Amino acid sequence: MKTVSRKKIIEALKDQQNIFGDYLFEEKLTSSKNYYEEIPPVVEVIREPVEETVNLFEDTDDWKNAKTLDELNNLIKNCSKCELHKNRNNFVFGSGNPDADVMVIGEGPGAEEDKQGLPFVGRAGQLLTDILKAIKFERNEVYIANIVKCRPPENRTPLPEEMETCIPYLKKQISLIKPKMILCLGLTAAKGLLRKKESLTALRGKFFDYEGIKVMVTFHPAALLRNPNWKRDCWEDVKKFRKMYDEILK
Ligand code: URA
Repeated sequence: MKTVSRKKIIEALKDQQNIFGDYLFEEKLTSSKNYYEEIPPVVEVIREPVEETVNLFEDTDDWKNAKTLDELNNLIKNCSKCELHKNRNNFVFGSGNPDADVMVIGEGPGAEEDKQGLPFVGRAGQLLTDILKAIKFERNEVYIANIVKCRPPENRTPLPEEMETCIPYLKKQISLIKPKMILCLGLTAAKGLLRKKESLTALRGKFFDYEGIKVMVTFHPAALLRNPNWKRDCWEDVKKFRKMYDEILK
């Protein structure tokens, strides 16, 4: 076995171990092949009709004309359009590379995110960093945002009206960043962005189309912390995601 192959295998194993813990795959231990090699090509891309989000409020703000993420953040960070603003410590706009090819979309800030004003900085965030690393993305290479920008009380799922009010901000972020691919974490992100009503089981691991951007839905890292048995399926999803990325950007 060549030294370079062994080094690659060790790196890949360490990355897998970060998300799988004891669930390391033996074939990865012995294989000297590129570890994305055995993934079948992904061909299923489902085109979604893009519905206009219902405008629930008289919107006279000029954030729609923002030319940069910073400008957008400044124009919306004091938002009080839904109830969630009342209990927030910080408006969690999003963070990462403004020119990212990949966006990651979660549900909404938790306690730690609300405290720091940054997305995915708690335990689920650490797992997200590890998942990204396992498919060779640095966290600061992608852009991370949420469906709602303020923390729902007790970390409950955002209400439909809260989502409808906040999603236009996310859509504006997407239009400024222009990613090639989006990874939706969990059902709330999938429902919010793709207007889907199916279960996560039905949606995960497939590619959908949002305005020409390839979107994949997979498990939310918080769900993986609660149920580590899902990590294996998540790993299959994100490997496909990486493979598609490599195909698109080659
Ligand atoms: N969960 C999310 O969906 N988003 C965050 O930013 C943190 C936890």
